[in-house]
Amino acid sequence: MKVAFFDAKPYDIEAFEKYSDGDSIKIKFYETKLGEDTAELAKGCDVVCVFVNDTVNAAVIDVLHELGVKAIALRCAGYNNVDVKHAFKKIHVFHVPAYSPYAVAEHTAALLLTSIRRIHKAYNRTKEFNFSLNGLTGFDLHGKTVGVVGTGKIGRIFTDICKGFGMNVLAYDKFPAEGSNLSYVPLETIFKESDIISFHCPLTKETTHMLNSETIKMLKKGVIILNTSRGALIDAEALLDGIKSRKIGAACLDVYEEESDIFFEDFSGHILDDDVLARLISMPNVIVTSHQAFLTKEALENIAETTISNINAFFADGTCENELCYRCGNVEHCKKLRDKKCF
Ligand code: NAI
Repeated sequence: MKVAFFDAKPYDIEAFEKYSDGDSIKIKFYETKLGEDTAELAKGCDVVCVFVNDTVNAAVIDVLHELGVKAIALRCAGYNNVDVKHAFKKIHVFHVPAYSPYAVAEHTAALLLTSIRRIHKAYNRTKEFNFSLNGLTGFDLHGKTVGVVGTGKIGRIFTDICKGFGMNVLAYDKFPAEGSNLSYVPLETIFKESDIISFHCPLTKETTHMLNSETIKMLKKGVIILNTSRGALIDAEALLDGIKSRKIGAACLDVYEEESDIFFEDFSGHILDDDVLARLISMPNVIVTSHQAFLTKEALENIAETTISNINAFFADGTCENELCYRCGNVEHCKKLRDKKCF
């Protein structure tokens, strides 16, 4: 099997190259992202392996299909960048449903603590032998209310971490987990009553811009917004306005609506064209990490192992338990209606 591996970074190559033995699997690593201009690079390959910011729209799928590519192996959980509907009956799509929900939940907690205890400011100060504490006053997490939107694998671990700090947890999920001891409330209650709000739901039509200029009006003054899920859950311009008006006390973002051409790349020494991102980053109460929440040793190893076993399973008998299937009506939990296959 030949695999065209797009958007390859040194840490990806380190995790995957041990599987590229040349006999059963040969991986060609490309630094470039998959998109309409680069899809031809998959010529002669059976599989393309992609990540969160590769473009897998209808046009790209058509080119891959014409080239004879059989499968798209996502090395991530989210699949909002793949037109799964268009891929149906053309190319099979797999993902890695879970690789380390702890990595993302722990990064969310790290961002929160950094923000409220001003660790990012203190780090810079002491590096310059400035030992002043002025302006570094934080607040206790204990007793504060955190609203968690999306209580799947990551959201649940994050709620456990918050409970460890003695916080009150309010939860919202379109499909509340049965038998959990979470206090589910309507989304509006999350917006109105939380001191801290953390987003852990997938990006769908319904969740796009769930935090926008209207919903921001409902928030408590000084609320802290955490987003380690997908950028477009938040209308970035509305967020910026909320910060400028002092309604929002702080924002910690691992994802950004327009991140695809920016994150994972080194733009130091360049002028950033995205004014909203540049302005957000310039704010003293905004912390941005560039889609880094997943990046732990454990997660990278699990991603590589599951991606390769998805590919091996599919080429062994045409089935893969992690196939995403539009036909089932429930993309993620494919019911494999026919012969354990989606098509
Ligand atoms: P999951 O599938 O286990 O949980 C998602 C939860 O969101 C489910 O409980 C689901 O019922 C809920 N949900 C679905 N639609 C909703 C809606 N309209 N409103 C509220 N809740 C809704 O997914 P997991 O593993 O917890 O991941 C959550 C998100 O984290 C992913 O969608 C992905 O976008 C993001 N992620 C970010 C990473 C990073 O590096 N920053 C890495 C991995 C995932």
